[in-house]
Amino acid sequence: MKKNVKLSSFYYGFPVFLVTTTDGNNGNVNVCAASSSISLGDKIIIGISKGGKTHANLVAGSDVVINIPDPSLWQKVEAIGRLTGGDSLSEGQIKWGVEICHDKLAKTGLNTEASTAVAPPRIAECPIQAECRLVGTTDKGRFILAELDIVHTWIDTGLLNEDDTVDSAKWKPLIYNFREYDTTGDTLGYNLKYGH
Ligand SMILES: Cc1cc2nc3c(=O)[nH]c(=O)nc-3n(C[C@H](O)[C@H](O)[C@H](O)COP(=O)(O)O)c2cc1C
Repeated sequence: MKKNVKLSSFYYGFPVFLVTTTDGNNGNVNVCAASSSISLGDKIIIGISKGGKTHANLVAGSDVVINIPDPSLWQKVEAIGRLTGGDSLSEGQIKWGVEICHDKLAKTGLNTEASTAVAPPRIAECPIQAECRLVGTTDKGRFILAELDIVHTWIDTGLLNEDDTVDSAKWKPLIYNFREYDTTGDTLGYNLKYGH
């Protein structure tokens, strides 16, 4: 039996990522916890709410690094999600206890390593990182979609097979499951393109 219900969110299990962007006026780096993305070929499209610092940096044209944390980083992700790099708080942010912070990486004890093609740095603790160029943004009302072209993908060597493909047996994503942090379990089977 099923019930027809109204949900405030439909987060049925999405990989978490940390978005680094830069403020073009002063070069300040911002990091944002996120889970809304589509990845296909060499493109990633991310959904970012209006009103925050990441939104402001993106509409001002910042390129992006998509930093993929593993499950061990869930508490840092949650801590980053409670911070905004903006200068003011909305009523909703006040209600949820969100705080303003202009150096979330230092506050949460994360380190950066320089990117090679874009200004925002990579987060050293994240085993998978994609340097991306911003292609454009699309207004969707309460949020924007930012279309990104991946220009460099960095993978921790401990996750790589000899042919530089990712060993899926070694990689475990951090999953956002109806606002609970999870990871994946036992192998169920393999796709026809497994290993490629
Ligand atoms: C696990 C997790 C996933 C999130 N996913 C998104 C998302 O996909 N898009 C978004 O705009 N905010 C998302 N958020 C909320 C932002 O991290 C939060 O609004 C943050 O304060 C924005 O920071 P900024 O104003 O510095 O950009 C998520 C938060 C957490 C903890």
